[in-house]
Amino acid sequence: MEKLITPCYILNKHLLDENITSMKNALNEHFSNWIIGYSFKTNSLLYVIDYMKHQNCYAEVVSHQEYELAKHIGYKNIIYNGPMKSQETFVEALNNNAIVNIETHREIEWLKNITKNVAIGLRINFDLEKYCPNESACGTEGGRFGFCFENGVLEQVIAEIKTMPNVTIKGIHLHVSTKTRSLNIYKAIANVAKQVIEKYNLDIDYVDVGGGFFGGMPEKPSFNEYFQTIKTILGDNYTIIVEPGASLIASPFDYLASVIDVKDTTYNRFVVLDGSRNDLDPQFKKSSYLYELHTKNADTICTQVVAGYTCMEHDRLMTLKNNVALQLNDRVLFKKVGSYTMCLAPNFIKYAPLVYLYEENEYRIIKKQWGINEYIAGAKKYE
Ligand SMILES: Cc1ncc(COP(=O)(O)O)c(C=O)c1O
Repeated sequence: MEKLITPCYILNKHLLDENITSMKNALNEHFSNWIIGYSFKTNSLLYVIDYMKHQNCYAEVVSHQEYELAKHIGYKNIIYNGPMKSQETFVEALNNNAIVNIETHREIEWLKNITKNVAIGLRINFDLEKYCPNESACGTEGGRFGFCFENGVLEQVIAEIKTMPNVTIKGIHLHVSTKTRSLNIYKAIANVAKQVIEKYNLDIDYVDVGGGFFGGMPEKPSFNEYFQTIKTILGDNYTIIVEPGASLIASPFDYLASVIDVKDTTYNRFVVLDGSRNDLDPQFKKSSYLYELHTKNADTICTQVVAGYTCMEHDRLMTLKNNVALQLNDRVLFKKVGSYTMCLAPNFIKYAPLVYLYEENEYRIIKKQWGINEYIAGAKKYE
């Protein structure tokens, strides 16, 4: 690890294998029919999405460009979600028997122009906060995806689709964003799925419970517990679709950065890294990190603020208390950082870092550091 060029992400292949295998084993244990749709948005590094294809995962995509990307790298099976479909790719996906979950009124209009027999799924918006107080990401503001169950919009949509002789509703989709990733969430999802199926007498093949699980974290709920919770309510009557992102890809990725400066000011000691919070917490929401300090120094210091290289004051990662005093060229390894990091990181003053694969005690580069050429690709000069 001493020889690695920093800053860099490191993908541990063994941990990735472990995560996908344990998810498959847990699904097999509980369901006769299941599909894993890997959530491209969570981390769409080429190596990762190609790996998931070789694991027989479907591509779970949420924009026409993600859809094109999945096709480009050879996915035959695609789950097409989200409000950002283009009409062209929407029609193409339906004609090619992709799993298409609709959630906007314009998709209903697009369906009216299709004459071929097609099957769709419906994304359901429901009041998660009611079932799991303080656990939903949006609280009483409510989630914004899908057709609302409680206010009757879902009912109207189902009625409208039932008037289309060539369109069949073959599934429902219930992904939600949460603060907790708890088992309770999946209890609520399964209960709402059951209510919707029964209330509207739906004859469907699949229930897509979305992503949002923990994975690769022994102290958190296991895949077995999640799927047991769902099965207790829904039985083994449907193809269960899961759309994991973070649970598969967060824990196998680390990020390594080197200390490029140590300085004392009136208020603080600052330890400046060649990495940035932009690469680790691009939404600036995290309050703590899992990390290892790689230093030969044994002296301790009561306070040091670990900061990123950017020229933004708020690019500060953490304050270390009573810890070993970091020195120039020491390294900090941030652990389990593969989800919603590299896909959201801005190209602010320094471009995407390189990525190593760690496999069988060796490191190899699976993505080069972006340079000026990648940054200006396709752009026009003034002259
Ligand atoms: C529709 C859908 N499916 C799956 C996921 C993946 O969620 P996670 O990465 O938390 O597993 C998301 C994330 O936002 C999503 O919006």
